[in-house]
Amino acid sequence: MCGIVGYVGPRDCSDVLVSALTKLEYRGYDSAGIAVFENGKIEVAKSKGRLTDLVNKMETQGKPQGHAGIGHTRWATHGEPSDINSHPHSSGRRVSIVHNGIIENYKDIKKFLIENEHGEFLSDTDTEVVAHLLDYYYDGNPIKCIRKVLHEIRGSFALGILFADRPETVYAVRCESPLIVGQGKGEAFIASDVPAIIKYTKDYFLLEYGEIAVLKNGLASFCDLHGRMIEKELKTADFDEDSAEKGGYPHFMIKEIHEQPTAVKTTITPRIECGMPNLSECGITPEELKKFNNIFIVACGTAMHAGMVGKYVIEKLARVSVTVDIASEFRYRDPLIGENDLVIIISQSGETADSKAVLNLVKGTGAKTLAIVNVKGSSIAREADMVIYTHAGPEIAVASTKAYMVQLSVMYLLAFQMAFAKGRIDEEECQRLTLELVRTPEVIEQTINRIENVCRYVSTKLITADSLLYIGRGLDYALSMEGSLKLKEISYIHSESYAAGELKHGTISLITDGMPVIAVATQNSILEKTISNIKEVKARGAMTIVICDIQADIDKEAADYIIRIPKINETLMPMVATVPMQLLAYYTSVNKGNDVDKPRNLAKSVTVE
Ligand code: AGP
Repeated sequence: MCGIVGYVGPRDCSDVLVSALTKLEYRGYDSAGIAVFENGKIEVAKSKGRLTDLVNKMETQGKPQGHAGIGHTRWATHGEPSDINSHPHSSGRRVSIVHNGIIENYKDIKKFLIENEHGEFLSDTDTEVVAHLLDYYYDGNPIKCIRKVLHEIRGSFALGILFADRPETVYAVRCESPLIVGQGKGEAFIASDVPAIIKYTKDYFLLEYGEIAVLKNGLASFCDLHGRMIEKELKTADFDEDSAEKGGYPHFMIKEIHEQPTAVKTTITPRIECGMPNLSECGITPEELKKFNNIFIVACGTAMHAGMVGKYVIEKLARVSVTVDIASEFRYRDPLIGENDLVIIISQSGETADSKAVLNLVKGTGAKTLAIVNVKGSSIAREADMVIYTHAGPEIAVASTKAYMVQLSVMYLLAFQMAFAKGRIDEEECQRLTLELVRTPEVIEQTINRIENVCRYVSTKLITADSLLYIGRGLDYALSMEGSLKLKEISYIHSESYAAGELKHGTISLITDGMPVIAVATQNSILEKTISNIKEVKARGAMTIVICDIQADIDKEAADYIIRIPKINETLMPMVATVPMQLLAYYTSVNKGNDVDKPRNLAKSVTVE
């Protein structure tokens, strides 16, 4: 969603802000803007559209010249994408702000300000109301003013603030929405995410709830909600600029698909000891795992789909009941959770609003929470009882690929360890499964090399489709959910995933001549059944694409196109079968000329409800 940046230092501030905002483009946005101190005055430039539109506008109308300022990419929530609704928002001349998140009580505040004859409102945004509220309370003491406003506004937000009478200084505050403060040599930054500033510094502070940062003379200092100065721990990013760049690939998505073997290896290797899964560094012991009677996996989108695979695998191996739920549903459905239950929250960003809300819901129920998160120090990771970090590195493309793959690998580790702890499998079986998992990075690599061109070709058969179906049974069904989401989010082709055996109960009536049906058929124990379903749709005119292993016996008449992948243990096949689904989605989007990494209307990290 929205991205915030800020800079204080010797460089050209406008250039730094635009460059940092470029690295936040993946979050999704529809307008952009900056505010910079120029000769002691705040100069603003903003524009609807992409960052290039802002840059072009500044080229013709003048770029603010200075060394301290704030910048923003906006993903519209209150008011349409327009120049006026773009951030920064100002209160006349005294205060300028950028904002990520939502101010829930902005209408009440606006009413209050109007009653007190304060402020002329130009935009439809909740943000502009906060700029005026800051102005209303400002008496020359920025910290006091920010603290006062913090007590009055409700919602999730991170703010970057300029006070006109405090030139060359940037203020920032955070409540819920993420914000980091970068510290370079003689320069300081704020940003919604570390990749925005990694070009300039790897050192950063994590701003906590209610903390205020002051960037001045190239240095960052901090105070708490009560206005007391505080020291914060300086962290160092464990990736560099290269990993946050495309590295020769045309899009982040394809680069991230190719990074999967390394991502899986980095995620599982430290969690395997003497051939057995060992999650004790994450606070998970076999004794603890033994206690759980029910597991709830709660997440959104792709992360929820990783949970679906987890359900099949955990139930099959550990014989523990697993319920998978969409976070936005779970949080409002009054779920039955209690002691001896484990709630697993899966999230790449660790900042997804609905998934985060689930943690609060679980508190006080007696259930334990386990977060499986990619971004270090993110809210979900910090608030859960236990955390397993996936080590995918920064995932920039909106369409998640490598984060999903590492989430799957963690699901397997957890399932193996739980099955062993519960006595459902013996040590030998546990070691055998773990070894198969250890070998998957190599197989994933072979798969990409083997089928990339095939998928590129098959995707040309999809580009004219208005609608398609993904079908599968068992684990293949869980996988097809992700295949379908991946395809629709970047190709804009309507797609649904269906349990293959369910087609005859209604959905088969949708099949018309030439409609693509992609069947995932990697589960040999139920292959015959899936093949029957493929034949049924084929007989009704569907164009069938079958994803199966190299040995699977598929009738030529049943499949128009077959994508064959290496064969490994059936339970682990999702680690391999994911690859063709990702590549089909990627090349369909490329062939349609879409913006692959930044699909329309989508944001990488959904920090509002
Ligand atoms: C993935 O391709 C999607 N863009 C989206 O479904 C995503 O997985 C979802 O928003 C959850 O995000 P999270 O993993 O950061 O919580």
